[in-house]
Amino acid sequence: MKQDTKIVTAGRKPEFTQGVVNPSVTRASTVVFNTVDEMNNALKNRHNNTMLYGRRGTTTSFAFSDAMTELEGGAGCALYPSGTAAITNAIISFVESGDHILMVDSAYEPTRDYCDKILAKMGVETTYYDPLIGAGIESLIKENTRIVFLESPGSITMEVQDVPTISKIAHQHGCIVMLDNTWGAGINFKPFEYGVDISVQAATKYIVGHSDVMLGTATAVEKYWPQLRDNSYLMGQCTSPDDLYLALRGIRTIGVRLKQHQESALKVANWLKTRPEVDTILHPAFDSCPGHEFFKRDFKGSNGLFSFTLNCGNRAALTEFLDSLTHFKMGYSWGGFESLVLGITSVDSIRSATKWTAEFPLIRLHIGLEDVDDLIEDLAQGFEKFNAKL
Ligand SMILES: Cc1ncc(COP(=O)(O)O)c(C=O)c1O
Repeated sequence: MKQDTKIVTAGRKPEFTQGVVNPSVTRASTVVFNTVDEMNNALKNRHNNTMLYGRRGTTTSFAFSDAMTELEGGAGCALYPSGTAAITNAIISFVESGDHILMVDSAYEPTRDYCDKILAKMGVETTYYDPLIGAGIESLIKENTRIVFLESPGSITMEVQDVPTISKIAHQHGCIVMLDNTWGAGINFKPFEYGVDISVQAATKYIVGHSDVMLGTATAVEKYWPQLRDNSYLMGQCTSPDDLYLALRGIRTIGVRLKQHQESALKVANWLKTRPEVDTILHPAFDSCPGHEFFKRDFKGSNGLFSFTLNCGNRAALTEFLDSLTHFKMGYSWGGFESLVLGITSVDSIRSATKWTAEFPLIRLHIGLEDVDDLIEDLAQGFEKFNAKL
């Protein structure tokens, strides 16, 4: 089955949908049984899409997990109330005091904070590594290294990683390979085809796609699925069926949305390339983006999120640019239908294994589903205001 067909059919098993197109929103804490047999049967089949108790899920969450597993691959998908909860719970499910993990230097900032502030307190040591390390990862693996964590492309600076090479070496040393696959969304990057063991997503972004739900997913291969699933349960992780319904609705249009985000973002990035104020386009589909060769080799497409650096400017000019924009609002998220912008004067505070050498500010854009010419016009007038402040 081709991907666009899967997007439409995934998770729509009759036992979840009961004869209509979408599964209903099944809100439940208590599931009731009339006989001891019924209850025992539910207990026995609790890992097999049978309702036992609300926290273990209802038909709405079963449908969503099933859909994610079909789209991303793997043996099962655990659900969390945010992408951050998915990342932290996936890691904690596989480490104990005395262990060591390798974390990519370009990780989402709260992932880094979790390593530094929570894992460290528990006696789990983190070493950060250059996202472009490739086979060099081997020299950082220690006896007690349990997890090699990747995020590709990296947050803000967009480095694309050589996932299969890193995974192969990590496996030779018995490490678990985890990936923050939010940018690839399980649509443009298929993690399990490249050696990943556990793929985590902030479904908050493109899966939900409408900026109205916080949600996280962790999909695992057979070998690690039972441990991930049982730990999620033990940590009390559960998600609202209303949110899951919206996320399932988001999935149905992710194929066409991503294609449009991609087309518009490429047009904006190509226009930016012609601007005298722009230094480097950090869009994985551009050869100026570190790791572009891995994007070309491993990804099926791109989306609306990319960054670029400036070759001039200061804080005041950047502020003027950002304040003047109409269609681009400032926001820490991405993946919804709307355009967003972030201005960053220094990346240094969120890097430790690599040095950020750009002298001038970096701007991250999320290109939404507005008419792309309106977006370009907005940026053009922003540059006029920017230049007036130099
Ligand atoms: C790459 C990436 N991973 C994880 C997250 C965390 O997701 P959430 O905000 O749902 O916790 C984000 C959020 O911005 C992100 O950009």
